[in-house]
Amino acid sequence: SAKQQPELSWQGITLSITAGPTREAIDPVRYISNQSSGKMGFALAAIAAQLGADVTLIAGPVPLATPAGVKRVDVISAEQMHQAALKAAQNSAIFIGCAAVADYRMAEIAVEKLKKTSDDALTLKLVKNPDIIASVAALSQQRPFTVGFAAETHNLIDYAKGKLTNKKLDMICANDVSDPAQGFNTEHNAVTMIWPNGELALPAQAKTELAKLILQQILQQYQMVEK
Ligand code: CTP
Ligand code: CA
Repeated sequence: SAKQQPELSWQGITLSITAGPTREAIDPVRYISNQSSGKMGFALAAIAAQLGADVTLIAGPVPLATPAGVKRVDVISAEQMHQAALKAAQNSAIFIGCAAVADYRMAEIAVEKLKKTSDDALTLKLVKNPDIIASVAALSQQRPFTVGFAAETHNLIDYAKGKLTNKKLDMICANDVSDPAQGFNTEHNAVTMIWPNGELALPAQAKTELAKLILQQILQQYQMVEK
């Protein structure tokens, strides 16, 4: 009989995933954040765990239930996510950066609630947050196979390819967020997966269905590279 293709299996594979927004405090009662719902990252974690992966989910502040069988690490800020992600990544075969990390945080968080002044304008001084996925991809020891997401409103494929190269990722999922019906804060999404020598467009569908296809593609590339 014909030789069977080996089944691609997540059984026993360690996987860490960042998901959701980060929240950067301005003062004790205010913050800077974004519209990320965390649904895509949680869907990836849920499906991967169902498929037998050993999943750590590093979650920003989102009101979502922890998927069955998933180890969850809750964080608020990008700096907290950075620490948790580096720790998890060093024990993972594969890392997926699905979080919408705030690019900037306050240079200094006010200890007391800021008071309104007589000025009509207010300037906040922000400083850049660490690039979490780039630091994971730059690990010299125990570097996981590293997969990013790129949310763009324009020049989707070009910007995503730039991020794949600049952050030294193994794959990136390019996500068009110009259409309010898909992407951030919705149940549906479409992505184009890009790796150094190929790409694959996955059409709009429920995030759980899309998660299965994304994971299949990641596993295939991972096993190709690890060989
Ligand atoms: N990312 C990260 N740490 C950051 C910023 C982004 O780990 N401080 C990750 C995201 O989780 C995602 C990828 O990098 O996997 C791309 O995020 P994106 O915001 O699209 O890219 P940026 O490099 O921040 O560029 P810009 O926001 O200007 O498009
Ligand atoms: Ca960004």
